[in-house]
Amino acid sequence: MYYIANWKMFGDKKSLNSLNKVIKLSKINKNNKFKLIYCPPYTLLDLFYKKLKNTSIEVGAQNCHENEIYGAYTGSINSKMIKNVGAKYVIIGHSENRSDGESDILINKKIKSSIKNGLKIIFCIGETLSQRKKKLTNKILTNQITKGLSNVKKLSNVLFAYEPIWSIGTGVIPNKDDLEKDIIFIKNKLRNNFKLKNAKVLYGGSVNPKNIAILKKINIIDGFLVGGASQDSKKFIDIVKKTVI
Ligand code: PGA
Repeated sequence: MYYIANWKMFGDKKSLNSLNKVIKLSKINKNNKFKLIYCPPYTLLDLFYKKLKNTSIEVGAQNCHENEIYGAYTGSINSKMIKNVGAKYVIIGHSENRSDGESDILINKKIKSSIKNGLKIIFCIGETLSQRKKKLTNKILTNQITKGLSNVKKLSNVLFAYEPIWSIGTGVIPNKDDLEKDIIFIKNKLRNNFKLKNAKVLYGGSVNPKNIAILKKINIIDGFLVGGASQDSKKFIDIVKKTVI
């Protein structure tokens, strides 16, 4: 099971202390039942890497520039730089970036250049509430997957995070049966169209220590991408403990 902490635009140097408890938890990870990945803001990547380097916890970035090589892009960070500070993952296609204008074509470029630079991808997909109401979820997911993965090599380096946009930061999660169907749909799509037999599909959107009891019943989910609750290490640990320990 994967547990990915997406800190978004939160965190400062002091927040490093909150990792101590999580490091303790990582030491009782018998048989590698779970994998913990922290995605702090760029400013903390290097510090997180150093703090976590002798543990099983890995580090990822939350986005990157699409260019594979360095270039004159003021304010941008590419996957080469992310890799250089010890991070192994990068989140790509998060809805908060899609809503800022990130297109499927741009997302596809980011995925390709990040894989070339040796990063693993946490590829986010998900529909809006109005799309869901219009029963367009499968269409939207198909579109995002097909365009995002177009001509991507080494698909085994991609983890998928299904994050319905209406669920992110709202406290609302999909009902169990619907979510199960959505995850099955994604897995089937990846198996049939991309020959990915064992794709890891995580769920993200308002995961917290309370609703984890419901989410854990869906045993085809391979992990969770946790935003708000991951900034509180007690809550993050609770989510892990309630599911795998
Ligand atoms: P949330 O965020 O857990 O705060 O809903 C999840 C995400 O955006 O990845």
